[in-house]
Amino acid sequence: MTPVGRGHLEGIEITKRYAGLVANDAVEVEVRAGEVVGLIGPNGAGKTTLFDCLTGFTPVTSGRVLLDGEDVTELPPARRAELGMARTFQQAKLFAHLTVAENILLGRHRHYRARAWQSALGLGAAAEREATEASRQVATECGLGDVLDAPVGDLPYGTQRMVEVARALATEPTILLLDEPGAGMDSNESAYFGHLIRRIHDERELSILIIEHDVALVAAVSDRVCVLDFGRLIMEGTADEVRRDPRVRDAYLGTAASQEEYA
Ligand SMILES: Nc1ncnc2c1ncn2[C@@H]1O[C@H](COP(=O)(O)OP(=O)(O)OP(=O)(O)O)[C@@H](O)[C@H]1O
Ligand SMILES: [Mg+2]
Repeated sequence: MTPVGRGHLEGIEITKRYAGLVANDAVEVEVRAGEVVGLIGPNGAGKTTLFDCLTGFTPVTSGRVLLDGEDVTELPPARRAELGMARTFQQAKLFAHLTVAENILLGRHRHYRARAWQSALGLGAAAEREATEASRQVATECGLGDVLDAPVGDLPYGTQRMVEVARALATEPTILLLDEPGAGMDSNESAYFGHLIRRIHDERELSILIIEHDVALVAAVSDRVCVLDFGRLIMEGTADEVRRDPRVRDAYLGTAASQEEYA
């Protein structure tokens, strides 16, 4: 595997300060082309902040973000999306009253830039058909083929989380960043979700960075796991190495839910 390829994301000494608080402290993170990297850490460790910095939803205080070797630190989120980054949010940002198909279609908006031209040339309807067809294919890939026309708000929570992933995939990313996609899922849903994510990864040859508290899910999908604590990267290794590491256990002590996960 070449060190720099499609979907290769690097955060170099990412620091983010909010007033007096250092949410990310010189964090080094790398997702190589085709790799699945898990990002874990206790509540408030700075995981979502790191996603915000990598994807451009918040400016870094200092540090650099490279995508496929290109410096994207100053680029807005939409531009990074065009270059291949897609993310989901910790709190799903779906339109509950719209259908699954409509929500996924919205994910394709970056493909619509040519719309004005296409309309002028009389190609609008064809482009629309193509977008609809592509959205349906993504839905099927994500196991949502049977609920395409259901309003998202009517679906079980686990299914809604999958719609988020499908919407992100509709932008045809080379790297997908998932912020706690398994939150609120029961163990069956999360096992199914992990299986689906791994399959999508294998078929699309995507890179993935996944924040997750569910350690079983992280272990199931990740090639490598990074651990953040108080804004600092405290270790990285395989899921097993991380699980056994005393620093990681210490970081999680005091949060009852995580103690259970680690038991
Ligand atoms: N916009 C903001 N303004 C001020 N402080 C913020 C902001 N966003 C995050 N923080 C603070 O930065 C720290 C890191 O928060 P962040 O949301 O990145 O943690 P997290 O690891 O994602 O936690 P969780 O597991 O609960 O989602 C927290 O102390 C949080 O309160
Ligand atoms: Mg978070």
